[in-house]
Amino acid sequence: MDTGVTIDWEKIDAIIENYKANPETLLMIMQDISDMYNYVPPEVIPILTERLRVKESLIYSVATFYKTISLEPRGKYIVNICTGTACHVRGADKIMDALKEKLKIKEGQTTDDNLFTLEAVRCVGCCASGPVITVNQETHGGLDRSSAAEVIEGYKP
Ligand code: FES
Repeated sequence: MDTGVTIDWEKIDAIIENYKANPETLLMIMQDISDMYNYVPPEVIPILTERLRVKESLIYSVATFYKTISLEPRGKYIVNICTGTACHVRGADKIMDALKEKLKIKEGQTTDDNLFTLEAVRCVGCCASGPVITVNQETHGGLDRSSAAEVIEGYKP
C-alpha cells in the first residue's frame, strides 16, 4: 500500500530531542511519532536505534505490546469496535460484520484510501450505551447495523 507519507525529519528530530534521546522514553517517542502519522513509519526505526541506542527488537516489542502503536500504516480514522462483554451481548458481532461489509476490509486492515482502520477492542468504559464503537476520540453508542454504517459515512470527506 502506498501511504503517501512524507517523513518530516525535523519534527522527528524535535520529538527525540524533546525527550533528550533517553532510551527510557522510547514508548513516549513512538507514541508522539504515531500521533503525527497514525503509525510509526519503518523509515524512522534506524534513527531511533541510532539516537536512543536501543535494539530494533525493542522497538518491535513496544509496537506489538501497545495497541495504540503500529508499524503498519493505519487510516486517518481508527474505528474501534468494542467487543467487551456488555457490547458483545448487545450485538457487537453484528456491528463488526456490518462495518467489514461497509468498508470492504477485515478486522485489523485499512481501507485502500487510507481513511479507515478497523479494530476490535475490549471495554471502552460506556457499557450502558452498548454496542459501542469509537472513531479516533469520539464514541458512538446504541448502534445497530445501519446506524453504525451511517456513523462511518459521516466521516467520509
Ligand atoms: S463492554 Fe463495550 S463499553 Fe463496556
